[in-house]
Amino acid sequence: MKKILAIETSCDETACAIINEDLAIETSVVTSQIDVHARFGGVIPEVASRMHVEQISTIIKEGLKGHSMDEITAVAYTIGPGLIGSLHIGAAAAKSLAFFFNKPLIGVHHLKGHIFVNELVDNLEYPLLALVVSGGHTELVYLKDDQSFKILGTTLDDAIGEAYDKVARIIGLEYPGGPKIDKLAKEGKAHYSLPTPKVEGYDFSFSGLKNACLQLTNRLNRQNEAVVDADLAYAFQEVALHHLLDKTLKVLKDYPVRHVLIAGGVAANSRLRELMSEHITEQKLTLPPLKYCTDNAVMIGVAAFKELKSGNFVAFDAASSSSLAIDK
Ligand code: KG4
Ligand code: ZN
Repeated sequence: MKKILAIETSCDETACAIINEDLAIETSVVTSQIDVHARFGGVIPEVASRMHVEQISTIIKEGLKGHSMDEITAVAYTIGPGLIGSLHIGAAAAKSLAFFFNKPLIGVHHLKGHIFVNELVDNLEYPLLALVVSGGHTELVYLKDDQSFKILGTTLDDAIGEAYDKVARIIGLEYPGGPKIDKLAKEGKAHYSLPTPKVEGYDFSFSGLKNACLQLTNRLNRQNEAVVDADLAYAFQEVALHHLLDKTLKVLKDYPVRHVLIAGGVAANSRLRELMSEHITEQKLTLPPLKYCTDNAVMIGVAAFKELKSGNFVAFDAASSSSLAIDK
């Protein structure tokens, strides 16, 4: 039975997992630095790197609990994109293990991890459209097969998760604000009107919407009127998520697609999951398990099996990249 030891350190989660060739999860450990970054209102790259250094050995030891390196076929790690300092810690750990135990090394693209983790719950069918929505990414990725990636649309400014986190801050909610807005919006109603982003083609934009939330809050404050937080969360979320949905439906009109999936931290959003289920009716739709939407090492292990099958290994001098493209 082939097994991959996977390591993920691209942002503020330090994670390790062992996945076998049946995609069964033998171990999975994730520690988040959220509590520390919450104090600063967002992820501080230098702090993130230092915390990965402190955590990585313990997390790998935990990930290997009950297993030995003899069982491991290959060592996989996130090679990019992400915070470069954070990526380096995972890369150094993976390379040390692979070198010492004489294992092949696999560098996994972070977004391929978010996309392929959906294989835990469904067989993927091609052509496939993945809506990748996270703290650093908003992308419509078209896959003719599991080796060909084409970015059809991307954000021209903020990523959707980033917009959630910034609007949460305006409302006074702690980082990460996405899950808190998701919850708060359920108590909100259509009261405030915010502008729908206007962008050509399949691209996205969220900074105008974020600024509109700030302007509305400032105006109400000047007028000594209380902002109804739940209504603002509701208004922001409805506009932001319909923007994602509209562009997704636009691609489906223009391209042959058999399967649609969502991926990344914002894929955990309950309203996005509801909207996708309501509107994607002609294609197969997969929503990833909530547990594996935000960063984890299981997704890196699942994606690494694709690389293992194609013999895509990396050398010990492989450089990590903060802006690694998925379609090169
Ligand atoms: O995929 P991820 O863990 O890290 C990146 O690769 O960026 O995504 C983190 C992002 C954060 O911006 C967080 O606020 C957002 O995902 N997020 C959510 C929800 N859960 C996490 N946004 C909206 N609704 C949620 N339920
Ligand atoms: Zn991610």
